Amino acid sequence: MLILAIESSCDETAAAVVKNGRQVLSNIISSQIDLHTLYGGVVPEIASRKHIERINQVIESALKEAGVTLEEIDAVAVTYGPGLVGALLVGVAEAKAIAYAAKKPLVGVHHIEGHVSANFIENPDLEPPFVCLIVSGGHTHLVIVKDYGEFEIIGRTRDDAAGEAFDKVARAVGLGYPGGPKVDKAAREGNPHAIEFPRAKVADAPYDFSFSGLKSAVLNYINHADMKGETIHVPDLAASFQNAVVEVLVSHAVDAAKEYGYDRLAIAGGVASNSALRGKMEEACREAGIKFYHPSPIFCTDNAAMIGVAAYYEYINGTRHGWDLNAIPNLKLGER
Ligand code: KG4
Ligand code: ZN
Repeated sequence: MLILAIESSCDETAAAVVKNGRQVLSNIISSQIDLHTLYGGVVPEIASRKHIERINQVIESALKEAGVTLEEIDAVAVTYGPGLVGALLVGVAEAKAIAYAAKKPLVGVHHIEGHVSANFIENPDLEPPFVCLIVSGGHTHLVIVKDYGEFEIIGRTRDDAAGEAFDKVARAVGLGYPGGPKVDKAAREGNPHAIEFPRAKVADAPYDFSFSGLKSAVLNYINHADMKGETIHVPDLAASFQNAVVEVLVSHAVDAAKEYGYDRLAIAGGVASNSALRGKMEEACREAGIKFYHPSPIFCTDNAAMIGVAAYYEYINGTRHGWDLNAIPNLKLGER
């Protein structure tokens, strides 16, 4: 079974061909990061326009690299939410046009279900149920993956997403966009215990997250230093901030796995490529006797291979979408 998958929910124009659910034959990603860096963040209108310019070429490359023709494809999959509406629309319109013209079934995929499914690519032994921590630029969710495409949300952020916090702190200390990888790199030279930042706990909701207090604490620290004319040691600040985020992510995820009785834990989303998070999660899981899974960095940030994997399981469970499929910017996890 061959699936052509398309992903355009944010600032990467991506297409992939996935065979039998878990074998990635091609994974083409055309990143717009350089363009958006000029503005310090993703500009939705520019993202949509660039998707239109690049999408045909990206799909052609994905088919070519996989060595398959459109006729050989069994289904066309596309992310239809959540994400930037204009950006999503480009992928959805393209997928519908290709599926209609080539007479193939159409499968719309939830972006976050895609992120979770990235774990299946390199871990043939991983099957539901398991606990998954999803940490991206727009989402922070702790879920139980009960079955393919079936999720129980046990924790979520009350304010900023984890990736958003990384991006905002990076901007405040002048590291630029995208913040996550730059903070990660700077933190390697810093002391994670140099500055004591708060670990936000949400009352009555042990698995929820809150990052706005931490973000404000970092901004206050920078302002105070500015007022006193002190220079900030960026690596120490990056390492201390990162440590505060990672500690909460790891403790919530591992505690949830223990409480709900799961011995497998996966991470997903752009922030899942963070080296401190991977290291600390690995260590905590080992101590707790939990098997830890994570995708390679290329499958953590936005890509279409993960959409093809999710689409395979959706397809075999009977999911098909019609020509009225629309982009849904605030699509809820588990909705179809
Ligand atoms: O999953 P993703 O590519 O897009 C969304 O669906 O949001 O995630 C992008 C987010 C950005 O906030 C980026 O700063 C963050 O993931 N990110 C990282 C790292 N690499 C990407 N955050 C921390 N450490 C990293 N190494
Ligand atoms: Zn994403």
